[in-house]
Amino acid sequence: MAASMLAEWIKSQQLRGPAAKGATTFHRNLEEALDVRRRGHGLYALKKSLWRNGAAVDFNSSDALSLGASGRLRAEFNKELERYPDLPPGPTSSRIMDGNYEYLEMVEEEIARFHEAETALFLGSGYDANVAVFCAIPRPGDAILYDELIHASAHDGIQQSQVACRIPFHHNDVEAFRDALESIVHSQPLIRQGKRCVIVAVESVYSMDGDICPLQDLIDAVKEIMPVGSTQFYVDEAHATGVLGPRGGGLVHELGVEKEVAIRLHTFGKALASTGAVVLGSKTVKSALINFARGIIFTTAPGFPTVAAVRSAYTLMATGQTMQAQETIQVVVRYFFEAIASNPTWQEAENHGILSVPLSYNWKQKPFVSHIVPICTRPQYSYWLVFHLAFRKLSTYPLEYPVIPKGQSRVRLTFHSHNTKEQIDELISAICNWAQEMMEIELGQGEINRIPKAARQVYSLMNSDNMIE
Ligand SMILES: Cc1ncc(COP(=O)(O)O)c(C=O)c1O
Repeated sequence: MAASMLAEWIKSQQLRGPAAKGATTFHRNLEEALDVRRRGHGLYALKKSLWRNGAAVDFNSSDALSLGASGRLRAEFNKELERYPDLPPGPTSSRIMDGNYEYLEMVEEEIARFHEAETALFLGSGYDANVAVFCAIPRPGDAILYDELIHASAHDGIQQSQVACRIPFHHNDVEAFRDALESIVHSQPLIRQGKRCVIVAVESVYSMDGDICPLQDLIDAVKEIMPVGSTQFYVDEAHATGVLGPRGGGLVHELGVEKEVAIRLHTFGKALASTGAVVLGSKTVKSALINFARGIIFTTAPGFPTVAAVRSAYTLMATGQTMQAQETIQVVVRYFFEAIASNPTWQEAENHGILSVPLSYNWKQKPFVSHIVPICTRPQYSYWLVFHLAFRKLSTYPLEYPVIPKGQSRVRLTFHSHNTKEQIDELISAICNWAQEMMEIELGQGEINRIPKAARQVYSLMNSDNMIE
């Protein structure tokens, strides 16, 4: 199963431009553009999920609280559907026309209360929400100061914003943040005079690095440097929602800085195992979004089943039914850090520069560890490690450019409250087994020019099944 799925994936990376010579100009041009992706083995293909088919253990999905895997959300959702048998699935109109409905407003109010925010606005996805916020909220003459590793959707929104300047700062680096903020103050007189604003965009938990924003330090730096009120924070809590803070309320809630953060984004496609997102903020922020965000004005309002699934997840969180899962994630990830560091092969591979887990350094001192743990390796090795793990029935995800910066390569592990100690032991054993093989290859032991066993198996399957066209 794993082998054929991997072989399908490799097959999708084979260049098609040359074969498309007889095709129409329209299709040939598209295939040539896709070939650019294929050349870097970066073509996205809609492949079947290994763990969904029961062929592997899930170290891949964002179902951190196991709300999806356990069936708990589905059970709560079924009850919610039964409570409202007459609500139609779709609102048949945009929110600003007559697509607004009582149930949606009620759920928004509940979510706002849960996170101790003035208002909540429900959107179709986190992507839409990020674009909406950056298009609607910053005014001409404002500046956006953002962590260089914020999500692609925030980058897309920032590009479309009307601000005077967009300044990235080095990831999670408070000193770099200070310097960037001071340089904005010096270069922008209207901001210096308190007539225009700086909007600071960060994430609670970074999706590709799994590290946590030093939000309190950034807030303190702003208080020292800027006139009151002219710098406002926007915190994307996508990967903190449900996982971090009291009952999963997020990092802002955990730090008790609700009043210092103008806008928060909570998305529901990750630990809440649903879809959609809310933007939390003041009534003014909500009104600005409804009036200025084209992605809200010109789209159908979120439908009842989507909102009902999210309400079900919030019912589980608000009644404390996800707290145990939150704690278990901490135990699971800490066990992984401890066990992998004590494996002798791991230490050797780390010294050799083949693998590292930056998040595992000083984990004992951290009050909270995230469920996202990247394993860093050499460029392109991520695929070979993912193949190797798939053959051991472990589903993980390779990260290469353009998803992460050029020259880096990682395998992203996502831990869940349902991951057992045995599964983690198996994961560590498989990783170290692969690392041993790679060290032997790099040291030139055994056959010359050999590639790892798992990759060989995939390539030979492609050939034997006549999969190469
Ligand atoms: C930090 C962050 N923000 C926003 C999004 C987009 O959320 P959604 O999947 O709901 O569109 C993601 C999804 O990957 C994310 O990781």
